[in-house]
Amino acid sequence: MEQMSSADCVPAHGGEFSAHASDTLQALRTGVARVSRAVKASEVWEAVVGNNAPPALSLATLREIMWSVLQYQPHTTEAGFTMIGRMPKNEVKLIMSLSRHKAEEAEHGLWARRDYLLLGGTEAGVSAPASPAVFAVIGVWDRLGSSEEPLSYLGAEYLFEALTMELAPTVMAALERKGAKRGNVGFLAEHAVEDEKHTRLLDHWVLDVGTRHPRSCQAMLRSFEYFAEVYPLPVWTEALRRAES
Ligand SMILES: [Fe+2]
Ligand SMILES: [Fe+2]
Repeated sequence: MEQMSSADCVPAHGGEFSAHASDTLQALRTGVARVSRAVKASEVWEAVVGNNAPPALSLATLREIMWSVLQYQPHTTEAGFTMIGRMPKNEVKLIMSLSRHKAEEAEHGLWARRDYLLLGGTEAGVSAPASPAVFAVIGVWDRLGSSEEPLSYLGAEYLFEALTMELAPTVMAALERKGAKRGNVGFLAEHAVEDEKHTRLLDHWVLDVGTRHPRSCQAMLRSFEYFAEVYPLPVWTEALRRAES
């Protein structure tokens, strides 16, 4: 694995970002658009937002997605903090900004737990072992945390934030049409609003870090693809199967 060195830290001139960094951000956006298209063509998307899908199935699928989140989120959060902690130690502003963002996200697994229970989940379910697709998400993040180039965090995190920004408002509107009580889907309602802000934050850091650490660009794209291999469709399809059972 290629590690960053201080020799990579070429300051950005006059606030300009490099073409390489801009291309990297564009590639991440293209990747999110590709994943989003796959989600919108999927069986689970139809089950959650489709007009013909029974509302009970849509809400049960969301409940099972919340179960997935409450399972993996503490682990992905810890792995994210590990990556941030391994970043070059002179990157004070970057570390402070990303730590603050990750800290704001830290309790979102608890929001998922709350909504899972409000939507009919059980305490026994909360403490059940991870499902295979959830385990794969945890596994990828554990490996990113322990071994990948730490600045590549921005790539994997981009999929989390930008995909939610893209999909959550549509899901929220569909579930409200289907009679979901806003108080039962707080995780979704909050994310439909806040992840736009989080994505703009990551946009900035991809451009800035990609400009000053050119070799991190490939690593960001690599981490994005590692994570996209296991998220979201395997996790959400598994949630649909549980909802149907
Ligand atoms: Fe979140
Ligand atoms: Fe977020």
